[in-house]
Amino acid sequence: MKKKPQPIKQILSENKRNIPVTVAGWVKTFRNDRFIALNDGSTLQNLQLVIEPENYDEAFLKKIDTGAAIYAEGELVESPGKGQDVEVQVTTLKILGVADPETYPIQPKKHSLEFLREKAHLRPRTTLFGAIMRVRSALAFAVHEYFRKNGFVYVHTPIITGSDAEGAGQMFQVTALDLDRLPKTENGQVDYKKDFFGKKTNLTVSGQLEAETYAMALGKVYTFGPTFRAENSNTTRHLAEFWMIEPEVAFLDLDGNMDLAEDFVKYIIGYVMKEQAEDLAFLEKRLLQEEKSLPKEKRSNMPLLEKLQFVLENRFVRISYTEAIEILKNSKPYKKKKFQFPVEWGADLQSEHERYLVEKHFKSPVIIFDYPADIKAFYMRLNPDRKTVRAMDVLFPGIGEIIGGSQREERLDILLEKMKKMGIDEKELWWYVDLRRYGTAVHSGFGLGFERMVQFITGMSNIRDVIPYPRYPKNAEF
Ligand code: 4AD
Ligand code: MG
Repeated sequence: MKKKPQPIKQILSENKRNIPVTVAGWVKTFRNDRFIALNDGSTLQNLQLVIEPENYDEAFLKKIDTGAAIYAEGELVESPGKGQDVEVQVTTLKILGVADPETYPIQPKKHSLEFLREKAHLRPRTTLFGAIMRVRSALAFAVHEYFRKNGFVYVHTPIITGSDAEGAGQMFQVTALDLDRLPKTENGQVDYKKDFFGKKTNLTVSGQLEAETYAMALGKVYTFGPTFRAENSNTTRHLAEFWMIEPEVAFLDLDGNMDLAEDFVKYIIGYVMKEQAEDLAFLEKRLLQEEKSLPKEKRSNMPLLEKLQFVLENRFVRISYTEAIEILKNSKPYKKKKFQFPVEWGADLQSEHERYLVEKHFKSPVIIFDYPADIKAFYMRLNPDRKTVRAMDVLFPGIGEIIGGSQREERLDILLEKMKKMGIDEKELWWYVDLRRYGTAVHSGFGLGFERMVQFITGMSNIRDVIPYPRYPKNAEF
């Protein structure tokens, strides 16, 4: 390439005329041997290139197919045609890489999301996936910006760990042992002393426990990294590998934690609305189109941007778990036996219950706090009633649980009692327990599922479509 190509986004936003430009990208469409719609990924908008067919031989023109990579120099001029303000009168055109139309799967027509999932290496070439991934990137930046502005320290917690932070046992084991020739101890068990780390290890399900140790030194910290769960859930809300954002703050109680969660999610949503307005406008239109085929009750009750604006402008409803159970027991679907799962104090809320509260009853994001101790993790602070813990879940319309968090148990005796009761080995987590021995203090934190937030913002109904290469049961292609 002779000259450095300029991003199409920049060319279009500068809105100049009669200047030389250089561009490179992939052909979206080629019409009448003359008009190339070029996309380079910097924006969802294509740039129209106009060539004089008589300047090229037929064999060359035949290679300008959808998906081909090209380089062009020319002059940016006012476009006489409809549909675009400017176009490029091409003076130099190079085909960098052809795309055989017989086999190239991303043709200019509507492809189903299922089909595109099988072509996950090429789906970012579509307008839809370009938009989703630019939104995802902006959202990640907003996360860091929010914490940076608010004095948080970014901590890289380990990916490989010896502990199960959630105590739920849904872990992927990490080993360097030869599975066909496992070393055994005298009593016939696998001898993990011979494994790489000299102990049993797994991929982390959460960076929380390690983040807590840093919060108890640096005050306000957060992690943002991949987490792994071997739960066999084939749902539109679960991945085996997902990204989680986990702030952890010393001297913060549950009320402060709820304030932080609300302020944080409003900030990152607001940021993306401002920075990715064009992508969001496209995603809103797509959603409207998609939902046309659905029965009325299944459609979103607000267009995408209105829904995002609504979240920004309204205070989240805050109710206790006990109040939530009351509301559910008095609800129509409960009385008409429409809920599949029981509504009983002590039982976990299922997504049908969460969605009823958020979408039907309150029509607003809802934070539920003070859950029964028995259905929540060992590290959550026990309330004086000794039945509930200072847990909180933030529930979003269309998504259900988007954040899970709590005030942490900072009292040594109660923590040890809880660990014993829940069968968590105190010796394994000696360092976590140490925090309660040395300078313990009130502290709180939460985890935001990054992909669930991308789903909420983009309006995509399946979590597999908001991460480049989704990992789920029986699938680790690419
Ligand atoms: O509620 P969870 O399990 O909480 C924790 O892991 C805590 N250690 C967080 C903390 O307090 N620091 O997970 C937090 C969030 C959920 O609310 C959900 O949004 C997301 O992570 N999440 C998943 N997202 C995609 N696929 C999965 N399998 C997920 N499991 C949880
Ligand atoms: Mg949870």
